[in-house]
Amino acid sequence: MAFIQTTPDALGIEPFSTIGGTWFLLTAGTPEAFNTMTCSWGALGEIWNAPSVTAYVRTSRYTHEFLEKDSRFTISVFPEEMRPTLAYCGSHSGRDFDKVKETGLTPVTLDGAVAFEEASIVLVCEKVYAQMLDADAIGDPEILERYYGLDEMHKMYIGRIVAAYRKG
Ligand SMILES: Cc1cc2nc3c(=O)[nH]c(=O)nc-3n(C[C@H](O)[C@H](O)[C@H](O)COP(=O)(O)O)c2cc1C
Repeated sequence: MAFIQTTPDALGIEPFSTIGGTWFLLTAGTPEAFNTMTCSWGALGEIWNAPSVTAYVRTSRYTHEFLEKDSRFTISVFPEEMRPTLAYCGSHSGRDFDKVKETGLTPVTLDGAVAFEEASIVLVCEKVYAQMLDADAIGDPEILERYYGLDEMHKMYIGRIVAAYRKG
């Protein structure tokens, strides 16, 4: 099935079940060199009068290197039967494994960015804001202890949605 371009609001995405529930692949880089990882934290909404995505990526992720270098990233949402693939991409690093080869995912280029043929929805995003979360600004000490006791902080990336696709 081909991707059909549409608008973000016409996708009818329910953000809580889509982000926290079915997860998504965040893919950054160029068609020549990219990496993808599973995310279940993020937000969909509006900022600076543009439909936008916010993602939170720990600086230890290989994908973080690509997010820093390149200006576009994609969000790929998959049908439920692809969950094992997302589990794989969320538990193996592109530093050590070729995730495309291991999962059989098919990369596609959309608007200069990389997404996957198997996705049901793709959002192509232009990075417009990136900032480390500030540990001193976290009001709940339990969050600090639970999520940042041993692990690196997350960096927040806001991407303006420049194109939205669904499977036709
Ligand atoms: C369900 C699920 C959700 C995840 N969500 C995030 C997330 O929102 N942010 C993050 O930094 N890591 C998240 N991870 C962890 C990364 O996907 C994981 O560390 C991955 O192996 C990183 O790959 P990379 O090193 O190739 O970038 C998640 C993992 C899973 C399984």
